[in-house]
Amino acid sequence: MAGSEDKQELREMTGAELRSMLKSSINLKSLGGMRDESLTLDPRDLDWFRDGKIGFFFHWGLYSILGQGEWTYFNDQIPKETYEGLAQEFIPENFDMEELVTLAKDFGAKYMVMVTKHHDGFALWDSPGSYEDFTSFKTGSKRDFVREYVDAARKADLGVGLYYSPMDWRFPGYFDPKGLPENAALMKKQCYDQVEELCRDYGPVDIMWYDGGWLAHKGSDTSSAWFWEPIKLNKMVRKYNPKTLINPRSGYAGDFYCDEGSHEIEGGILPVPWEKNMCVCSGRSWGWMENDPVSDFDWLIHMLINVVSRGGNFLLNVGPDRNGKLSKEVSGRMRQIGEWLGKYGDSIYGTRGGPFEPLDGVFGSTYKDNKIYLHIMDIQEFEKISLNLEEVKVVDLPDDLKVLSAQVIGGQELEVSMEGKSIKILLPESLYTRDLKVQPVISIALTMNTALPKPRQDEIVFTGKE
Ligand code: GLC
Repeated sequence: MAGSEDKQELREMTGAELRSMLKSSINLKSLGGMRDESLTLDPRDLDWFRDGKIGFFFHWGLYSILGQGEWTYFNDQIPKETYEGLAQEFIPENFDMEELVTLAKDFGAKYMVMVTKHHDGFALWDSPGSYEDFTSFKTGSKRDFVREYVDAARKADLGVGLYYSPMDWRFPGYFDPKGLPENAALMKKQCYDQVEELCRDYGPVDIMWYDGGWLAHKGSDTSSAWFWEPIKLNKMVRKYNPKTLINPRSGYAGDFYCDEGSHEIEGGILPVPWEKNMCVCSGRSWGWMENDPVSDFDWLIHMLINVVSRGGNFLLNVGPDRNGKLSKEVSGRMRQIGEWLGKYGDSIYGTRGGPFEPLDGVFGSTYKDNKIYLHIMDIQEFEKISLNLEEVKVVDLPDDLKVLSAQVIGGQELEVSMEGKSIKILLPESLYTRDLKVQPVISIALTMNTALPKPRQDEIVFTGKE
C-alpha cells in the first residue's frame, strides 16, 4: 500500500501556498527557523506526543503576585529593584504541586508544560546560572518548584514539558544587543547555563518549549538566530536526551509547529505535527488576572475538536494565583473537559485528523484502527453533506473499505449504509438541538470492515516566506 509513516519526501512550502492549500486560519508562529540534519527526529519519536493530544500549560511566577499578567514588569515599567523585591514575597502558602498535577490528570492531559522562567527572568528552580541569583530557591520561598514539578508529573505518568524564555528584560543588552554586546552576552550565557541545568539536572525532558527568541522586541522568535545560535543550544539539549521534542520558538525550526491564542481554527487538515496553545480564560494574559472570565464549555470542546480533527494537539493554559491556586471556575472547567474526554477519549487520544476534511463549524473527523469518529457541531448542516470515501486525500484508504455500523459514543446505534463510496447515516430527531447557538458536539463512531492505515507523512517544510 502506498503511504505509510515511513515515507519521507521533503518539500518546501511558502506561507502563501500553505494558506491557499488549506484556506486555513491557523497561524503558524515562528516559521523559517534554522534547520539542521543532525537535529531532525524520526517521525516515530513524535508518536507519544501526537497520540497524547492534550497538554496542560501553566504560567506561574512573580507576576502572579500582581495579577496583571506575565508582561507586567515590562508593560508597567516597574523599576528593577521593585520587581525583584517581589521575590521575597513569593512564598506560596500551602502550595502543593501534586494538586496541579492531579488537576492536569483530571483534565485528561498526557503532558504538561511549566513556565520555568518567563521574560522577567525569575527562575523557579535552584539555578546556579541565574544572573544575580534571581530564583525561587534563593529568595522568599526557598523552594525548587521545577524539581517539585518534574517529580510530581513523572509520578503521574505525564510527559514533562519545560517552557523557557531565552530573552530576559533585566538585561539592558536585551534591548540593544549590538550597542551593549557584553551585557547581551551575559544574557546569552545565562540562557545556555540554565537550559543545560534544566536538561541535565531535571531530565529527561520530554519537551523544550521556548518562547521569546526575538531581541529588543523586534522581529519574531526566529529572527535573532544570529545571536542565540539555536542549533548549538539545541544540540546541547539533545545531548542530555536525544528524543526531547523542541518547539519552533528558539530560532531552530523545531519538531512541531505551533499556533497561539484563542482565535478560531478553520480550514483543512494540516499534514504536519502541530500544537495549539491557548488559555482556558479570555486570553488577555497567560498569568493570573483576577476575574478573567472562563470560556464556555461547549466552545472549548468545539475548539478541541477543531484542533484535533486538523491533526493538532491542544495545550490549554491556566494561570494560578500567587499561592498557586486556581479559582473554582477554572479548575471546574478543566475537570469538565476531563469528564468529556473520559467519555469520548477513544475518539481523541491516539487518533489522527481525518480521513474526511473538516467543514468549518459543521464537523471534523478523527480515526484510529478500524474506527472513524465524526464530531458533529451543527447537525442541520451536517445532514446536507456527503461523506464520500473517494474524496479522502490524507490517507490511502483500502479499496474495499466499508462501514459496518455506527453508534453515538456511549449511546444509541444508528442506521448506516453505503451508496457507492458514500456513507449515509440516519440521524434521529432526538439528536437535534435546534435552539442552541453553540450546539454540544455529537460524537459518532463508525466501525469499518478493516483498519485504516496511518496518514502519509511527506515532510513538508513551511518556510514562512511569501
Ligand atoms: C506569548 C506571550 C507570552 C506567553 C506565550 C505563551 O508569547 O507574549 O507571555 O508566555 O505567548 O505561548
